Amino acid sequence: MAEVAENSDLNISDHVAVAKFCRSHAIDLVVVGPEAPLVAGLANDLRQAGFSVFGPDKAAAQLEGSKAFTKSICDKANIPTAAYAHLHDKASALTALDDFQIPVVIKADGLAAGKGVIIAETHQQAQDAIEDMFGGGFGDAGAQVVIEEFMQGEEASFFALTDGENIIRFGSAQDHKRVGEGDTGPNTGGMGAYSPAPVLTQSLEDTVMRDIIEPTVKTMAAEGMAYNGVLFAGLMLTEDGPKLIEYNCRFGDPECQVLMMRYQGDLALLLKRIADSDLGADEAMEFSKQSAMTVVMAAKGYPASPEKGGAINLGAQDDVQIFHAGTAFKDGALVANGGRVLNVTAMADSVTAAQKSVYAAIDKIDFPSGFYRRDIGYREIAREEKG
Ligand code: AMP
Ligand code: GLY
Repeated sequence: MAEVAENSDLNISDHVAVAKFCRSHAIDLVVVGPEAPLVAGLANDLRQAGFSVFGPDKAAAQLEGSKAFTKSICDKANIPTAAYAHLHDKASALTALDDFQIPVVIKADGLAAGKGVIIAETHQQAQDAIEDMFGGGFGDAGAQVVIEEFMQGEEASFFALTDGENIIRFGSAQDHKRVGEGDTGPNTGGMGAYSPAPVLTQSLEDTVMRDIIEPTVKTMAAEGMAYNGVLFAGLMLTEDGPKLIEYNCRFGDPECQVLMMRYQGDLALLLKRIADSDLGADEAMEFSKQSAMTVVMAAKGYPASPEKGGAINLGAQDDVQIFHAGTAFKDGALVANGGRVLNVTAMADSVTAAQKSVYAAIDKIDFPSGFYRRDIGYREIAREEKG
């Protein structure tokens, strides 16, 4: 980022300091990215201080901040989602567990950096997860628990931008959450993604808008919590149609990278119009028809304990965009400085071709303490092969 912008070291939880910085730098638009400051109400405080802010208020950010809150909105608006129970203590959770078939999904209610979801394959695992959550294993996030029916199907992500009233579609993507090839090993923030996700057909997308996104935006407004920002719907495409797994109140990483590759309009202008509640109904966005793919290069040990400081040589690259995530300069040389380190990203006429470009670029990168998945996009590539 330092190559294209000026970075400033600000404490994001000090809202007064952030507002002061915005004032002294005459900032026209604030985009609050991650979920924690949104849930903490940074958008509220900056709006109150008179700034244009893209991102939901504290109340609206509960759509990501509390799984039970989202379930209650689904109930109110009749949104298709997994059957669930919302529990406040261990004893009632263990009793409620008997109403669910195995596998079953146990979720800490609050923010847990993507780690608060346990897919329990046995009754014992479910019991252990409940005991762990109420035992403080997830901090405050686990003080309440949601038990969910396990949904079968393929996952896809859908993005909508809204100023609280008008909604525009912002495309689809498919992430790869597990650390290992063939979707094995622990969940991560995401090891690679492509966009669009053709498995979410035009007709399924219409259904998602009608049955999930529109009722959510309407209900939030009716409840006095109008949502301003990006709604990232995690979907399960089940035999009974698309169902909501969860909402995120941000663009997602690595979904953002592939969406941004394809978006062809003026992003700052668009986000500013949303921040200022200046959207028209059903505006169409300009997206490249090509497929974008990004593959994450992570530091060995990720997600548990990534190795920091490993040397990286990017080599000569021309056909790809490499987004840096956890990198730093040390004595003038590029080194790894986080879990997910690089996002190697390409565009092409098919997912198969985009994948080819990405891996050709990765083969030129020298990053001995890094690793990546070699199978990103495999579901769609299999469909493309079948024709
Ligand atoms: P979440 O953080 O809620 O997106 O959950 C993380 C991952 O757990 C999702 O991307 C799904 O792969 C899986 N998951 C969550 N809830 C369910 C469910 N009810 N049925 C099946 N898989 C689920
Ligand atoms: N890649 C999923 C997320 O950002 O939540």
